Amino acid sequence: MALFDKHALLEKHSMLLTVGILVVVAIGGIIEIAPLFYLSNTIERVNGMRPYTPLELAGREIYVREGCYVCHSQMVRPLRDEVERYGHYSLAAESMYDHPFQWGSKRTGPDLARVGGKYSDEWHMDHMRNPRSVVPESIMPPYTFMVDRPLDFSQVQQTMQAMRLVGVPYTDAMIENAEYDLLAQANPDFYPNSGDYDGALVDRYTEASGREGTVTVRAFDGDAENITEMDAMIAYLQMLGTLVDFETYEADSLQNRR
Ligand code: HEC
Repeated sequence: MALFDKHALLEKHSMLLTVGILVVVAIGGIIEIAPLFYLSNTIERVNGMRPYTPLELAGREIYVREGCYVCHSQMVRPLRDEVERYGHYSLAAESMYDHPFQWGSKRTGPDLARVGGKYSDEWHMDHMRNPRSVVPESIMPPYTFMVDRPLDFSQVQQTMQAMRLVGVPYTDAMIENAEYDLLAQANPDFYPNSGDYDGALVDRYTEASGREGTVTVRAFDGDAENITEMDAMIAYLQMLGTLVDFETYEADSLQNRR
């Protein structure tokens, strides 16, 4: 047949075949990439997302330091089994303040993108100290040292400044008050000079979020006096996936579709 005769030409000339492949691949690439140049933003802004508080940010640093991402992902894919197990699929906006992002590539343990509020602080304490005490078949390693290790937050302001450089909208007030904000979030009784430190923290980050109730102040590890790595770790875990209110998010997107 004539058509197949012509194809023989491509099969016999490797350079011609290479050029042909390049042309075909380029068409696919252009179709995928070109539209991105016409979008002002590829991340849809969502009500509720805010920069992490200094304590949550410190917890996130520990998460990265300990390599929790090696066993845990932080991205719920839009597949039925995942949505039923973990909740609403992850939005791009939910990791827009993560530098580097923590999507992960492997799940030895479950996805953690929506773990916030799933368990009590006490459960997390027990689980981090000895995972087998709450999940007998667990193969997660213990992180007992975090209970006693004082949180080193001498660098927290610099970390926030670095985050601001890459686009996280930390305000000057957030950076200036970082250390007080951190202490106040883990200790509701933190009142040096009788200032309302936790109130100021909650106001600052609630305003950034545009939604009430995204900032919680409490002794995350049950001990308000000593600020430990466990405080930061639990504050971070309990915040994960709780910033966006998915009831209003669904309503919004339905309206947009109409
Ligand atoms: C060697 C792999 C491994 C590493 C490293 C690891 N985990 Fe896990 N993790 C697991 C496994 C497996 C489970 C499921 C069993 C369980 O709940 O202990 C789990 C469960 C969890 C859960 C409960 C999730 C749920 O929805 O039930 C949390 C929270 C958690 N891990 C946090 C962490 C944090 C924080 C770190 C880093 C400090 C970490 N993990 C490091 C394997 C790991």
